[in-house]
Amino acid sequence: MKLADNKATMSFSNGAPSVDLPVYQGSVGPDVIDIRKLYAQTGMFTYDPGFLSTASCQSAITYIDGDKGELLYRGYPIEQLAVNCDFMETCHLLLYGNLPNEAGKAEFTKRVSNHTMVNEQMQFFLRGFRRDAHPMAIMTGLVGALSAFYHDSTDINNPEHREISAIRLIAKMPTLVAMAYKYSAGQPYMYPKNNLSYAGNFMHMMFATPCEDYVVNPVIERALDRIFILHADHEQNASTSTVRLCGSSGTNPFAAIAAGVACLWGPSHGGANEACLNMLEDIQKMGGVAKVGEFMNQVKDKNSGVKLMGFGHRVYKNYDPRAKLMQETCKEVLTALGLENDPLFKLAMALEKIALEDDYFVQRKLYPNVDFYSGIVQRAIGIPVSLFTAIFSLARTVGWIAQLNEMIGDPEYKIGRPRQLFTGSVKRDVLPIAQR
Ligand code: ACO
Repeated sequence: MKLADNKATMSFSNGAPSVDLPVYQGSVGPDVIDIRKLYAQTGMFTYDPGFLSTASCQSAITYIDGDKGELLYRGYPIEQLAVNCDFMETCHLLLYGNLPNEAGKAEFTKRVSNHTMVNEQMQFFLRGFRRDAHPMAIMTGLVGALSAFYHDSTDINNPEHREISAIRLIAKMPTLVAMAYKYSAGQPYMYPKNNLSYAGNFMHMMFATPCEDYVVNPVIERALDRIFILHADHEQNASTSTVRLCGSSGTNPFAAIAAGVACLWGPSHGGANEACLNMLEDIQKMGGVAKVGEFMNQVKDKNSGVKLMGFGHRVYKNYDPRAKLMQETCKEVLTALGLENDPLFKLAMALEKIALEDDYFVQRKLYPNVDFYSGIVQRAIGIPVSLFTAIFSLARTVGWIAQLNEMIGDPEYKIGRPRQLFTGSVKRDVLPIAQR
């Protein structure tokens, strides 16, 4: 961290002595005020629920400028990565900090491919779930359970353990997601095929059956690969912060990633793509495009509790750059599958148009986020709505691991332990039960 030329001075209206606080500069983005010694110096904490103004760590992985609508992985704009690279190159970039050359990419891809199978015992574990279990309930369990299978790589403080766990997790997530799907469909699991690409192999495990040959459609393969790239990392969002906090206790990498999966499930985060598609289907049932105005009135009515899912973002106060790329992919996939007139896509376009022109959304800087289009793409591909968030977790795994490994390697890392402003009862005595 680089000290800035200026410092911050905090003064108090009650005459208590003011304190100087160091200011640090990043390579780009807002400076930070270092408040680590504030409690020791003043006996006070800072108060910031939801971390609206708090940098919880230093990181060199992903940079977002929410006002510009800019997203960089290790300095590279997401628009360039989505067009020029595939998911394996993106994983290499996030994990090791550089884009691989041909040989490096081949070597990394081979290492990942070597770990795509899961232990045969895993299917017995799956059998303990009801067939209608939500895939995210299954994923939370299966990812956590991986630590029971790989006793040789559970020491988070050992760089070799972290490395092999990273490869195993990236390799096995598609297998686990596909198994969760096949289990719910009552179909046999398909073993991975290592001659296919990462996305192609996932499609094979999802949609092939032992009864006939399955040919990967290159348009869909590329679309899935793009979904994976766009969701690979997003700096200190809720699930990534969860992974960091969980990992800060020294727990094993599989347990930390399972915590990330659990957090991602929520509809304000990864669950939004599922919620968005359910919303589109509900409006469709109400009457489709003709009912958009009525629905929008509900969204704007604070008492209705209705939100326009797939819109708004804590950081982006401009168009989410991933949403633009996903919109492109959406058109490509629908055209390739002959679904250009898909009513849900038309409905989504109508909602987007109205929202982008409506004062309510303009004033609050609410723009479509990546989930607005990713759900339509996934549905067109034939992925059931309830599996969307599990696919997000598959893609985000590399980001979680990169962030976890960065934290463990940071000499300033400590167990995460937020403090609180206590507003409960002051000390009181327990009365005997007859007197309460
Ligand atoms: N529909 C209607 N109003 C909205 C929406 C929305 N989707 N999002 C925000 N608002 C309104 C809020 O009601 C609030 O209005 P107010 O100032 O009059 O009270 C204002 O916009 C600011 O919103 P906040 O909730 O304060 O913003 P915050 O940063 O806390 O929330 C969030 C961001 C959770 C993403 C929110 O926009 C949301 O719930 N969106 C829908 C869910 C969604 O799509 N989530 C995906 C996030 S992206 C991802 O995880 C990949």
